[in-house]
Amino acid sequence: MTSIQPPSETIWWKQPLDRVEGTWIAIALVWSLIMFVMMPVWHIYGKQNLSNEAYRTTPAAYMAKTQAMVDQYTVRTMTDQQIPVVKPPPGSDVYLLGRLWQWWPIIELEKGQTYRLHIASMDWQHGFSLQPQNINLQILPGYEMVVTITPDTSGDQTIICNEYCGIGHHNMLGKILVTEGGS
Ligand code: CUA
Repeated sequence: MTSIQPPSETIWWKQPLDRVEGTWIAIALVWSLIMFVMMPVWHIYGKQNLSNEAYRTTPAAYMAKTQAMVDQYTVRTMTDQQIPVVKPPPGSDVYLLGRLWQWWPIIELEKGQTYRLHIASMDWQHGFSLQPQNINLQILPGYEMVVTITPDTSGDQTIICNEYCGIGHHNMLGKILVTEGGS
């Protein structure tokens, strides 16, 4: 019999199951159930997953919110581009935007305090990669990502863009400064 001919037993699913086949089906079933359970378990107890929310927005609406925060909480500027360093109060909403080719503004947070960090793109796809923490988020225009963060180490964190976004991609850097706080 060749494969172009129909099988002799057309009602193949009524054939008795071979022991080996049954064993493999059982193994596959058990393993898929283990993985199914591990997804939520690891999301809650694992250390590598970031729980984020996402909302629809527009570049103009997001820019307005970011600008309002910058106007209210800028404490100084940094770098020769005079990028504002913004220090919002603990517990507040913090806005960071990605655009060709920078992360703006520079954000200063206090260690041990919790913030809601919003991130959106003003133009096209960027990748938010926080180093050395190795936190990665894909940032798309029209979507506002929100992550609840509590910095547990002080020091400067560097944001790099890890989605290729054009000629200035390699210069698309940003900063999150974490201070000891205690004020
Ligand atoms: Cu932004 Cu690469």
